[in-house]
Amino acid sequence: MDYRSTVAHGPALSQLNADALLLVLTESQATTADPVLDQIAKDAIAAGDFALKAGKSLYVHRPAGVKASRLVLLAAADATPKAFKAAVVKGLAHIKDLGVAHAAIATGAGIALTADHAQSLVLAVADATYVYRHTKPSAPKPGPLKKLTLASVEADAAGIKAGLGLGQALAEGVALAKELGNHPGNVCTPSFLASEAKRLGREFKHIKAEVLERPALEKLGMGSFLSVTNGSVQPPKFIILRYNGAAASLAPLVLVGKGITFDSGGVSIKPSAGMDEMKYDMGGAASVLGTFRAIAELKPKVNLVGLIPSCENMVSGAATKPGDVFTSMSGQTIEVLNTDAEGRLILCDALTYAERFKPAAVIDIATLTGACVVALGHQHSGLFSADDALADALLQAGQRSQDTAWRMPLDEEYGDGLKSNFADIANVGGREGGAITAAVFLSKFTKAYRWAHLDIAGSAWKSGAAKGGTGRPVGLLTRFILDQAAAGKDAIAPRPEAAKAKPAAGKKVARKAPAKTARSASQA
Ligand code: BES
Ligand code: MN
Ligand code: ZN
Repeated sequence: MDYRSTVAHGPALSQLNADALLLVLTESQATTADPVLDQIAKDAIAAGDFALKAGKSLYVHRPAGVKASRLVLLAAADATPKAFKAAVVKGLAHIKDLGVAHAAIATGAGIALTADHAQSLVLAVADATYVYRHTKPSAPKPGPLKKLTLASVEADAAGIKAGLGLGQALAEGVALAKELGNHPGNVCTPSFLASEAKRLGREFKHIKAEVLERPALEKLGMGSFLSVTNGSVQPPKFIILRYNGAAASLAPLVLVGKGITFDSGGVSIKPSAGMDEMKYDMGGAASVLGTFRAIAELKPKVNLVGLIPSCENMVSGAATKPGDVFTSMSGQTIEVLNTDAEGRLILCDALTYAERFKPAAVIDIATLTGACVVALGHQHSGLFSADDALADALLQAGQRSQDTAWRMPLDEEYGDGLKSNFADIANVGGREGGAITAAVFLSKFTKAYRWAHLDIAGSAWKSGAAKGGTGRPVGLLTRFILDQAAAGKDAIAPRPEAAKAKPAAGKKVARKAPAKTARSASQA
């Protein structure tokens, strides 16, 4: 569906030519400039059929004096894009199974539409009309909805149009992330993710995609990443995406996405119940690909790098065992006490690799810990950063895009449990505060630049009857990047001391040691 040029203004709302009219009113102001609609709303309220309370709605068939043959009255809590979106979602549910090809959305006097409302509308419609069918050809065909009109009495039709365009680009990025997540693990392998990245590179001239194979990863010394692949027959892939929208001299933002295409837990195997959902363990990678797709369409003046370490975490006679020690690319040795804490093992090498881009900032996105789901549920993604300016920019981008994050602590003391007698660091601490321990583990590989970590274990997909990818946090990331592009000289820039900063425990000797294969158990 193309949402880009669907702003109507001028005609009385009751005379809008559409198959359905969704009218969003607020609790405080229920009138429109249209007496016909005002009378219908007034009568419905008087009859007790409708109330101006958030979440209330009323479907009216062939409303008298209204050109559209269906009318849905909707009450929003207030005029915010969030409340507007919630009301629209409700309205879409009413017309979902009807023969509505063209829906018009209008607001009462209480809601002055902005670009953010327009964007919310597009995302709500895209979400409501998304159907997964890649491995389910029998899935219901998409409904007849083809056209959307946002009726605006505002003078700022241009702003609203821009909001629709932004919504469209975002919706495509979100849809890609959802679709990749929903693909089963036997289809969406590391090789599949790599070919999707290459496809983006072919489709968008501002995107370049490159894929590093095992020999290159061994040469780089990514012993930690490779240790996770030991039990899998699928070859690991390290995907590098580049988007160049600004002068080469501008330091890039780097996104690092966890790309575990299936997480069985490895030898520290997970319980069977719900294990299928570990196909979503590439949600971080999906959000990076989705964000690149949105950005390629929006073309902001920034430089962007995407890094995706991708592999499976499986069990076999060759799989990594608890107690095995590996040397990471940073030179730090890691004792793998629990093979199920694999996300941090693949991310740490990607974070070290990120140093070479002299980034303005690095943000990693990962379905990292069950503990984050316990802490925050499914509402907010967990945000960890020692950098207040970066954290604030990300929190704000989340608010603005209705793809929110909540800041969590990152005190070094949370890493006390990561001590090991046999390596520089262990890959797990205790159970308590597990999301923070994981973030502290990652922080030990990010000393050379400004860094934030998003734990999306609770936000990347939904379980139960509505099981499916959410496409989060493509909205947050895209908004953040657009904000950075707009900030000009106030944008997040590399720390001045960054050039001199040494990586964490900078074990020069280990770093220069000849590359060893991940299959060698004697690395430490
Ligand atoms: N991919 C999981 C995290 C996860 C679990 C996300 C459940 C969403 C729902 C991750 O690799 C993992 O297994 N983490 C362990 C860490 C533990 C062993 C320290 C966890 O959360 O149990
Ligand atoms: Mn795991
Ligand atoms: Zn995992």
